[in-house]
Amino acid sequence: MATRDLDPAPGAPPADPPTTGRPTDAPPSGRRGLGRRALLGRAGLVGAGGIAAAATGALVEREIAPSGPSALDRERTRALAAMRATGPHQPGIVERPPAQLVFAAYDLTDVTTPARGRAGLRAVLTAWTRTAAALMAGDQPAGGGQRTLGLAPSALTVTVGLGASALRRAGLASAVPPQLAPIPAFPHDQLDPARGDGDLAVQICAEDPMVAASAARTLAIAARPYATSRWTQRGFRRSAAAAGDPFDTPRNLMGQLDGTDNPTAGTAQFDVAVWADTSAPGWMTGGSYLVARRIRMELDRWDLITVDAQEKIIGRRKGSGAPLSGGGEHTDPDFLARTADGSPLIATNSHVRLSHPQFNNGVRMLRRGYSYDDGLAATGDPDAGLFFLAYQADPRTAFTAVQRKLDRLDALSAFLRHTGSALFAVPPAAPTGGYLGQQLLEA
Ligand code: HEM
Repeated sequence: MATRDLDPAPGAPPADPPTTGRPTDAPPSGRRGLGRRALLGRAGLVGAGGIAAAATGALVEREIAPSGPSALDRERTRALAAMRATGPHQPGIVERPPAQLVFAAYDLTDVTTPARGRAGLRAVLTAWTRTAAALMAGDQPAGGGQRTLGLAPSALTVTVGLGASALRRAGLASAVPPQLAPIPAFPHDQLDPARGDGDLAVQICAEDPMVAASAARTLAIAARPYATSRWTQRGFRRSAAAAGDPFDTPRNLMGQLDGTDNPTAGTAQFDVAVWADTSAPGWMTGGSYLVARRIRMELDRWDLITVDAQEKIIGRRKGSGAPLSGGGEHTDPDFLARTADGSPLIATNSHVRLSHPQFNNGVRMLRRGYSYDDGLAATGDPDAGLFFLAYQADPRTAFTAVQRKLDRLDALSAFLRHTGSALFAVPPAAPTGGYLGQQLLEA
């Protein structure tokens, strides 16, 4: 059911690989530093009405095509289309995240013996493979309840992950990849066990909230009686319809542009950062590892400090996302740049400096998180923040290594509280006619 490049199904707007393959809003390589207005100006697209179209050179080139819908219109139409998965990877990783997320963790129900655990695991994965393909195509599968009749497929993607516990319960302890080593406890963690771990996980992304919620429900029904819900997290990003430009980097609930320096799909850098490498077991070839962290933001305190203070904490300008060393959003930060009095322009305890690949052995990860807002905590404070999701080749050298530093040194940590944590192996696409995880269960 899955994909390297996730293509709109027949009848959807034509696919543009540079767009489809870009999971973030970073410009394609080779375009760094070219401002949106400059590009549009070159193309004659900035008029009295201001910025007319999109952020990237690739898009501008398409925008000036003489006929047909604008690239912006096509992108908005694409946000409602059905996604057709082809290729070695599961969907829901490479392409730009749509507006809505439902993330659900599950536990196997019958693990009285490894054989029963294994049978249950196979049953769930088989059912989810079939159901996810139908849902993504915009069909009404069994258990669908006709809830989405009349709605567009909304770029729905379903991505399935396996926790180390599932493998152990299925008698497959020897197949647990070393990359699934437990994430260590960090000193400032305030984890709620009810919001963590799980034998299985499913990441459901769609532009429309009803499509996402209905898919989550249908997949829960499909998992019966072999797996039962453990915890769920809903999330959101700005919608394609509301975005002035769907290619721009979105903002998080602290107001920052979040996702600027993500690896760019289709590059060697992305492949190295995201896809399991040869040190992983064979069944993970084409797969990735997903870290989920529920991070509450202390928004009432954050909103009281000045924008200047907020920018120093991150190391980037809040409005433009430019590094404090100068330039535009996609200018590389200059960590050597100093003020007249000799202090670093990008502070040593800033989030960007501590997490930048330059100070982390060149390691990157694909951050694909969603904002969440679950109302009020028991204290009356907003229970809102970032449901951090990051795909990576090896969490030990990526998430865990970076978080170890952030937890200790990051100025942003004073405004954050990690309340949930989970780690999953995201296997490759199902073999043709087969099911997700088949390479593991039938090895
Ligand atoms: C609520 C929590 C967090 C917030 C609000 C946040 C915010 C940001 C912002 C605004 C940026 C700069 C723009 C960008 O490149 O995306 C950034 C960069 C980054 N963050 Fe976070 N972040 C959070 C948690 C984390 C965590 C837990 C990690 C990993 C352990 C992490 C890793 C990174 C990395 C690797 C970068 C890119 C650094 C670079 O290459 O310049 N962040 N984050």
